[in-house]
Amino acid sequence: MAKIALVTGASRGIGRAIALRLAQDGFEVIAHYRQNRQQAEAVSPRTVQADLSDPDSIDRLFAGLGRLDVLVNNAGIWKPSPIGSTEAGRMHELVDTNLKGPFWVMNRASGLLNDGACVVNVSSVAAQKAVAGGRSLYGATKAALDALTRNWSLELAPRRIRVNGVAPGYVETDMTQAHLSDPAIRQHAIDRHPLGRLGTAEDIAGVVAWLCSDQARFVTGQTINSSGGFYL
Ligand SMILES: NC(=O)c1ccc[n+]([C@@H]2O[C@H](COP(=O)([O-])OP(=O)(O)OC[C@H]3O[C@@H](n4cnc5c(N)ncnc54)[C@H](OP(=O)(O)O)[C@@H]3O)[C@@H](O)[C@H]2O)c1
Repeated sequence: MAKIALVTGASRGIGRAIALRLAQDGFEVIAHYRQNRQQAEAVSPRTVQADLSDPDSIDRLFAGLGRLDVLVNNAGIWKPSPIGSTEAGRMHELVDTNLKGPFWVMNRASGLLNDGACVVNVSSVAAQKAVAGGRSLYGATKAALDALTRNWSLELAPRRIRVNGVAPGYVETDMTQAHLSDPAIRQHAIDRHPLGRLGTAEDIAGVVAWLCSDQARFVTGQTINSSGGFYL
């Protein structure tokens, strides 16, 4: 019987690539989306909807789910929070989606995860490096997510559930499209990757697939940079 993988934010970008790669590796994938149902349905015949910034919506999502072997907390937003002009709504949006969202998802998923399951949190190099453009809150939510990764790995180790993270640099998706459309910003972004290019969603999906494979059976509590050396 196929193992079951739930991927959040699987309608687009990195989550879509992760879902397609896990399906290719033999998992039955449940593709979660917030608003882009048609795009999620193009990724997998099994989809679930929820606004992950809303705990009630997360409860509704889990009401219809059975056992899981893989959980990928990928859904997230990347919005600026410049000092001096950030309003409370932006703080709520970033923290509710990028930090509380994965926490409440895990809180509900843990009872459904089979022993030996694999959890992957999609973090960012922004958790480790300062980046221009007033994105401190984004980096803070991802640094907090890395802390969840370490703590969850310890908490769930008795059930042989491994919890890891992957930290991309710049990846070309809808999230970064407007930002990277400025040629000077784009070149600056490329220059921050010693391997000389931006990341692709498939680069990140490959690391997630490895973390969810038997090859990584003794790896837990790690956030692995997949960023062409951005973190160096
Ligand atoms: N792109 C990069 O350069 C980069 C770099 C480092 C880390 N990351 C991280 O990688 C992850 C995926 O990023 P991406 O570039 O693939 O983003 P994206 O193309 O903007 O896609 C975001 C995904 O998250 C879902 N989503 C957003 N807000 C949500 C909410 N409140 N509730 C439920 N789902 C929500 C979207 O669903 P709908 O389609 O239904 O709206 C979509 O599937 C994020 O955690 C991001 O922080 C990205």
